[in-house]
Parts: sequence; structure tokens; C-alpha cells
Amino acid sequence: MDDAAESELTREDLIHDLNNVFETITEAADLLSTDRRWKTLAATLGRSVTRGKRLLGAIPDSTPYLAGIVEDAIQSVTDYCIAARKPRLRFVREISTDTRLPGSAKDWERVFLNLFLNAAQIMQKPGRIDIEAQQFENTLWITVSDNGPGIPVDLLPRIFRTNVSTKTSRSRSGRGLHIVAAIVKQYAGRVTAANRERGNGAVFTISLPSAG
Ligand SMILES: Nc1ncnc2c1ncn2[C@@H]1O[C@H](COP(=O)(O)OP(=O)(O)OP(=O)(O)O)[C@@H](O)[C@H]1O
Ligand SMILES: [Mg+2]
Repeated sequence: MDDAAESELTREDLIHDLNNVFETITEAADLLSTDRRWKTLAATLGRSVTRGKRLLGAIPDSTPYLAGIVEDAIQSVTDYCIAARKPRLRFVREISTDTRLPGSAKDWERVFLNLFLNAAQIMQKPGRIDIEAQQFENTLWITVSDNGPGIPVDLLPRIFRTNVSTKTSRSRSGRGLHIVAAIVKQYAGRVTAANRERGNGAVFTISLPSAG
């Protein structure tokens, strides 16, 4: 019989098996891409696999420039909107190209993708998301606002907790904003949620010590 330590499953073992899942999806995407009609969907699958590998740490992380991370998250949510047949979102960015974030790019992609996905999932018609970043003294302020229905007011005080959700269709919901808050906190930042004036959508504000 093997040593007990040898028989314990590791993170590498999980990565190994998830890579098998990714390989099947990649093979299927390659097959789809041979037919002109499915090329776009095949590319979507390919990008989702890359994102999955990045999340797992199976491919190298990139430098955390805000503008690039936001672009990756926009691509991912646009892929989602197409695949899930959701109304398309228009993104308006006011971000300087040299704005850096602390830590790891894949963490920040999770932050922005969870915020964008929420807007995408709640919109009943094509909408708009604005992303703005401003440096003020030693703090970087980032706002993500949408023109959707806004956040139910009774949810606002507890919206970053787990299991707080208005989704009815899925059994395990109410985790996205918890992930957002946990990552922002990990980098000594703060995130708040509010509704825009005149009930015109939601706004999430992240404040972070400047990464320099
Ligand atoms: N942009 C938004 N506009 C309106 N309501 C929102 C918005 N973002 C979040 N919410 C509300 O906050 C709830 C919690 O969001 P959160 O991302 O934590 O969980 P979820 O989206 O319901 O599920 P999960 O992210 O786990 O799939 C949502 O169910 C929704 O009611
Ligand atoms: Mg969510």
C-alpha cells in the first residue's frame, strides 16, 4: 500500500483532470471550426478554455494593467451574451492605458467579469456599461455602472454576502459579488454598491490604494 501522503489528492491532480475536460472542449471546438457556420462559436469555446486555464493557474498570468483586464472581461461577457442569447451590451471605457492594478491579472478579471455578468444577466434589452477609472491622490477609484433595472433596495445592505441572490433558475447562486468583495479586500481595497440617481441602473465603486 502507498504512503498516506502519496495518496492525497493535490491541486496538480485537479489541474490534470480539468485539463482533460478542457482538451475535450478544445477538440470539439476544433471540429466545429472546420464548418464556416460554427467558426465564431468555436472561437468562443477556445477563449473560454483559455480563461479556465488562466483561472486554474495552468497558463502564465499577465501584467495587471486595468485597460487590458477590462478588455478581456468584455470579451468574455460578450461571448457569454452571444452563447446564452442575451441582449448585447455596449461598453464605454474611460481608462488610461497606463493604469496598473496590484497583484494578479486573473484575480481582477474575475472581479470585472462577475460585475459585467450580473449586468448581462439582469438586462432584458440591449444596455450599456460604463467603466471609469480615476486617480485621486493615493487612491484609484474605479466605477462600473449600468443602465439596467437597478438593485432591489432590500438587497443593498447585504449584497456582497454569499447566497444573496434574486436568481431563481440556478441552485448555487449569490457568489459572484462575494468573490468581487473578497478579491478587492485582498488588495486592501473597498467595494460598494448603489443605485444610480433616478433609478437608472446600478453602480459599483472600487477604491484601491494606488499600485504606482
Ligand atoms: N448590476 C446589477 N443590477 C441589478 N441587480 C444586481 C446587479 N448586480 C447584482 N445584482 C443583484 O445582486 C444579486 C447578487 O449578485 P451575485 O453576483 O452575488 O449573485 P448572482 O448573480 O445572483 O449569482 P452568481 O453570481 O453566483 O451566479 C443578484 O442576484 C441581483 O439581484
Ligand atoms: Mg453574479
